[in-house]
Amino acid sequence: MTDYHRPVLEQEVADYLVRDPSASYLDATLGGGGHTRALLARLAPDGSLTALDRDPEAIAHSATLAAQDMRLHVHQAPFSRIAEFCAPDSLAGALFDLGVSSHQLDERARGFSFESGAPLDMRMGPDAESSALEWLKSCTEEELAGAFHFNSDLDRSRPLARRIKIMLGEEALPTSDLLRRAVDGIYRPRDNERAGLLARVFQAIRMEVNRERDEIRLGLTAAVGALAKGGRVCVLSYHSVEDRAVKETFADFEKDCVCPPALPVCVCGGKNRQLRKVIRKPQEASAEEIAMNPRARSAKLRVMEKV
Ligand SMILES: C[S@@+](CC[C@H](N)C(=O)[O-])C[C@H]1O[C@@H](n2cnc3c(N)ncnc32)[C@H](O)[C@@H]1O
Repeated sequence: MTDYHRPVLEQEVADYLVRDPSASYLDATLGGGGHTRALLARLAPDGSLTALDRDPEAIAHSATLAAQDMRLHVHQAPFSRIAEFCAPDSLAGALFDLGVSSHQLDERARGFSFESGAPLDMRMGPDAESSALEWLKSCTEEELAGAFHFNSDLDRSRPLARRIKIMLGEEALPTSDLLRRAVDGIYRPRDNERAGLLARVFQAIRMEVNRERDEIRLGLTAAVGALAKGGRVCVLSYHSVEDRAVKETFADFEKDCVCPPALPVCVCGGKNRQLRKVIRKPQEASAEEIAMNPRARSAKLRVMEKV
């Protein structure tokens, strides 16, 4: 455990993932290095672990660990570049602990928190093309409403998008306060509802800025390609939209037949299944873990195996 981030379901993930201590593994979300350390603790001296993060602060945080442990290879990169670091059929396991770290949320200047006066940034790393403010200014009202609808299942996404676009045109230096006032104006929330609504508004914008749904699909697809037969992939998601993106990507790899639905007969050979579920239902954290780490409350762990 570090102050940077407290890992969720740490030992459970290591139990599912590391079955051959001498094999190669991928941690696609280094963060504060909590899961990375737990995986390294299970590896033999000839095992190896590649760890990625798109955030240079995460890479810097684990610099000493990477310098001391020759089994660990750290790279600053998004999921969509996994194939550059992991050869096809080379991995015994891959981990994706999705979303933002506690460190990213706590650093006011990063703009992930809805603390008053915080900048509208929300970039997880330099590969994101624009800050939240730049994206909010450049997107259309339809695109913004779509982000609220698809990334956060928000009702009244259209009037909220319209209100935000109008306010952006009126304010010289927009901050998190603009989003708070827009939420207050559209939803007229009770005090106990405001934080939940703001969290969903921030989540929707953050997911666009960091292209999170595309990254999940591309990253999991690349990881499946990099897994050897019998290799496993563990994914921790923290909200329903993230979990849906994971489930839908995996579902494509669980199909035997990949013919277009319009075809009357199968022409693909029907032997395309690449993954099977290791656990039927996603695993959740225990009450004890949630009491110690509230972030674990919404966690869902999915585990798949390459067939
Ligand atoms: C929940 S934290 C991971 C915490 C980590 N497992 C630990 O134990 O400290 C998620 C991390 O993944 C990184 N991340 C999220 N999406 C990413 C992506 N598409 N590519 C690379 N890194 C990503 C974030 O920058 C963040 O540091």
